[in-house]
Amino acid sequence: NTNFNIAVIPGDGIGKPVIEQGIRVLEKVAGQLGISFDWEHFDWSCEHFHKTGKMMPEDGLEQLKRHNAIYLGAVGYPGVPDHVSLWGLLIPIRRVFQQYACIRPVRLFEGVPSPLAGVGPGDVDFVVVRENNEGEYSEIGGRIFQGTDAEVVSQQTLFSKKGVDRILHYAFDLASRRKGKLTSATKSNGIMHTMPFWDERFAILAKKYPQVQTNQFHIDILTAHFVQHPQWFDVVVGSNLFGDILSDLGPAVAGTIGIAASANINPEGQFPSMFEPVHGSAPDIAGKGIANPIGAIWAGAMMLEHLGFEEGHDVILGAIERVVKHQSGKTRDMGGTATTLECANAILDEI
Ligand code: NAD
Ligand code: IPM
Ligand code: MN
Repeated sequence: NTNFNIAVIPGDGIGKPVIEQGIRVLEKVAGQLGISFDWEHFDWSCEHFHKTGKMMPEDGLEQLKRHNAIYLGAVGYPGVPDHVSLWGLLIPIRRVFQQYACIRPVRLFEGVPSPLAGVGPGDVDFVVVRENNEGEYSEIGGRIFQGTDAEVVSQQTLFSKKGVDRILHYAFDLASRRKGKLTSATKSNGIMHTMPFWDERFAILAKKYPQVQTNQFHIDILTAHFVQHPQWFDVVVGSNLFGDILSDLGPAVAGTIGIAASANINPEGQFPSMFEPVHGSAPDIAGKGIANPIGAIWAGAMMLEHLGFEEGHDVILGAIERVVKHQSGKTRDMGGTATTLECANAILDEI
């Protein structure tokens, strides 16, 4: 197949400009690879919510299903409560399309300053594998007696054996293909049911992967190790919430969340997978033209790899690497002064 149908959901805030730049980059690489993309745009967003009362139409997921992949900017903006916007669009896509493996690479590039003293390129190169379908992100719970002194809220966490095993398998496989090291993020000292269960499955599955060196840390000290010893890590696997936290912390250690990319993979290929930057809509800088487009561009590279074009992925990563070495192509969050457009143009010039 050389023609791909991509559903584009730019979403809110800086989602729009960064996805626009990502598409320009993908178009250029597609030309070189002799493939083509049909982009179908969906304006589903908080703006759409204000107009229609919904984040996406009733048959939204049906519409997305037909595509080879989904390319998404960011969802959520002041004016719509986050749990409404996210549970109305982003989370149903991840869930219903069984995109249970969320892959978030973290790399410190030459030319991007890390906030950590004495840490340089090569010291930070790992992948966070986040369970993306269950765990702490649960709709089970409730709130009663709202507004009274008797008010009570509860939120249930759910881990299934199938859900835990499949994400651990994914992480072990990935570690086997990388440096052969897998770290599990857990909290089995404080959370007495789910986390010991996760540890138990991790220990059982580890026996099937003797080539992978394993270790595990409680999430509290793991965050400290991310800051003090980022060199230790290769693949880090965690639950939905722990993976979420680690995948903002990791990129911060590597300079900025603006470069971080994310793939929401349905490994069985039954449904489309989704590619997006890790960051959100950044209301504080939206409309200023200064958002870093690299997270979205890198996510586009991951989409190419997923579609079978690893060389296209590598071309884009190489271009990013060369651009951020120089002051001229870097946006503010990377210590430069370039605009979104100037940064993307510099990457296009390198391709
Ligand atoms: P955020 O990622 O939008 O912003 C956090 C900080 O990082 C801000 O100071 C922002 O300016 C900066 N930043 C983020 N991306 C940047 C970029 N590309 N270039 C330069 N600076 C960048 O996180 P938040 O403020 O917690 O969330 C804002 C909204 O986005 C919320 O509604 C949240 O729910 C939503 N959100 C959506 C997604 C998603 O769609 N996947 C992810 C995270 C947050
Ligand atoms: C992310 C985001 C989302 C998440 C939010 C916006 C629901 O933080 O993609 O990392 O927690 O998954
Ligand atoms: Mn997050």
